[in-house]
Amino acid sequence: MVGLQWGDEGKGKLVDYLADQFDAVARFNGGSNAGHTVVIGDKKHTFHLVPSGALKGRELLIGAGVALDPSVLGEELLILPENVRRKLLIDARCSLVSPLDKEFDAVLEKMRGTSAIGTTRRGIGPAYAARALRLSPRVVDLFGDPKFADISRFYSSLGVDPSALPEWIEESKRVVAGLVGDVGSRVVEIGKRGGSVLFEASQGTLLDLLHGSYPFVTSSHTVVSYVPAGLGIPPSEAGEPLGVLKCYTTRVGSGPFPSEIKDHTSDQIRSVGNEYGATTGRPRRVGWLDLVALKYAVGLNGVKNIAISKLDVLSEVREFRVCVSYRHMGSETSNFHGSLGYLSEVEPVYESPFTMYGARYDSGLPTQAKKLVDYLEQALGVCVTLVSHGEERLRTIEL
Ligand code: GDP
Ligand code: IMO
Ligand code: MG
Repeated sequence: MVGLQWGDEGKGKLVDYLADQFDAVARFNGGSNAGHTVVIGDKKHTFHLVPSGALKGRELLIGAGVALDPSVLGEELLILPENVRRKLLIDARCSLVSPLDKEFDAVLEKMRGTSAIGTTRRGIGPAYAARALRLSPRVVDLFGDPKFADISRFYSSLGVDPSALPEWIEESKRVVAGLVGDVGSRVVEIGKRGGSVLFEASQGTLLDLLHGSYPFVTSSHTVVSYVPAGLGIPPSEAGEPLGVLKCYTTRVGSGPFPSEIKDHTSDQIRSVGNEYGATTGRPRRVGWLDLVALKYAVGLNGVKNIAISKLDVLSEVREFRVCVSYRHMGSETSNFHGSLGYLSEVEPVYESPFTMYGARYDSGLPTQAKKLVDYLEQALGVCVTLVSHGEERLRTIEL
């Protein structure tokens, strides 16, 4: 399952919903910058590192492509039911995120000044950068060379005090003890005995380090093609992707957002949809559906099936708009990419095909929602297989 926008499409809710059909749920990218929400009755759970199948009692896998912050994982495990820990397997190759990475994340943001990315400050950029520099401590190293001399010298040279490391190493060992193994082999093994694994992406396609709205992106890969690499499995084992989109768009942090709503409707949608960051609590920026961006994301991920979330939110909003193309330098275009700055120069071209106002979901999919499903299937060349119309687990319709 991958997000087709800038994250927060409702992946957590749908992973939990679908988890019944799988033996295990695996994360393959990102780190504790993710905030995946699952609501059962009136109880809300936010997952940062633990896969969102935890409350369905599934086996839980954290693949090598994840940047693992043991402090966050420790806190997360404390508030989850006791049996969740026993279900967890963490790949030994995961890079670790330390307090130094978090401190340096803040230093970099300050350095960028007005062009700050608006990161989650979870140390994600520095941790993946250290991996690329071949300085990153990994989970396996906690039990081998726990001095972490290279990363310590590296941060000292940047003016970041490494003295917190020894205590953090001891705490990290305690958190991951008994949970470390080879996730790639485990996924293949589950497949061999006829089982299946749901791969849960964090972030969204437009935040991908290579293919997103660079430089306003995250530091890992958020697209389907990263599933095998992030887990350490052959591409042939990666299965069929499901894309998730929210029936409007949100973005947390800075960066271009062509279909951003500039009037009071954005406040209304934010309030009805409770659009505040699950990790940082920041208000999310709100925009209309953007078909240019979505066609790009659908193409990049090769998704044939999609899920649409948050339809209930549009029931409260009189207006409904869809961005069908961009205008750039006097001509219409459906190009999502371009030079740095291109996305902040384009003007959205909108269509208001129908209104979703007043649609009710108590007795199945209402006519207005059927119209939206048909409209998106036509426009994106996909099949809509799931519709989510409320935060609660059961507010889901399979088509
Ligand atoms: P994720 O990062 O993709 O897992 O999404 P988040 O959990 O960060 O953000 C989605 C938010 O919308 C959470 O607060 C969910 O509880 C909520 N949510 C998910 N699906 C729906 C839906 O269909 N309707 C409403 N109203 N809320 C939803
Ligand atoms: P989920 O999995 C929404 C955004 C940040 C920032 C940029 C870089 O819940 O969909 P980072 O901390 O990764 O270096 O920040 O990416 N971002 C997210 N936005 N949902 C997320 O995850 C995000 N993870 C990172 O807001 O703009
Ligand atoms: Mg989220």
